[in-house]
Amino acid sequence: MTNGIFISFEGPDGAGKTTALNTLLPMLEAKTTKEIITTREPGGSPIAEKIRDLILDVKNLEMDDRTEALLYAAQRRQHLVDRILPALEADKIVLSDRFVDSSIAYQGGGRQIGEAEVKSINDFAIEDTMPELTVYFDIPSEVGLQRIKKDRDGQQDRLEKEKLEFHQRVRHTYLDLQAQDPKRIKVINANQDPTQVVEDVLELILTKFPQAFSK
Ligand SMILES: Nc1ncnc2c1ncn2[C@@H]1O[C@H](COP(=O)(O)OP(=O)(O)O)[C@@H](O)[C@H]1O
Ligand SMILES: [Mg+2]
Repeated sequence: MTNGIFISFEGPDGAGKTTALNTLLPMLEAKTTKEIITTREPGGSPIAEKIRDLILDVKNLEMDDRTEALLYAAQRRQHLVDRILPALEADKIVLSDRFVDSSIAYQGGGRQIGEAEVKSINDFAIEDTMPELTVYFDIPSEVGLQRIKKDRDGQQDRLEKEKLEFHQRVRHTYLDLQAQDPKRIKVINANQDPTQVVEDVLELILTKFPQAFSK
């Protein structure tokens, strides 16, 4: 058994995960004697980063949806073995920007492969390692997309509409996962100012792990 703590952060791009994590890290460090490491998916270790490059390469337009799902599971496996498990075995706190729920939400829901199918290939990849706490940053899809949108021309073409529907399916799947596992997955309202978001996440973590953090 280990005294390590594994926490994942989930939600769509634009939800504010990276912003919140950056502010949160020093606040958490001030409240614990444990070492905290932060990492992110896809990638997070040399081999996993190579798989990430393959997934995100814009030249790979014709990549099959299931190939993509398998590659995500493969990079997750490698990242788990290289980074997460050694840290947990050394009793560290691991904060991971995305983990298995991302695959179920994006490939299962967004790309419509199905939650159960994507979960099963990920069960193979991660065996029994799951986060003790998953902080899900919930935000209306329109707001998340607007935050990451570069050219704000306000027009909605066909692609934009597809993008919105894709993100709505992703959000719906995340909420579904939360309903199935409310003890592990906690929802944060990401559609409020960054200070409040950080305060809410901090409160969640301190409440869940009173033995590891002082108030
Ligand atoms: N609570 C917030 N309210 C408004 N804008 C935010 C908030 N959090 C982050 N942003 C902005 O939204 C964009 C995406 O944030 P980021 O932290 O990169 O999201 P993620 O890591 O979830 O993709 C950035 O431009 C960031 O400054
Ligand atoms: Mg980010």
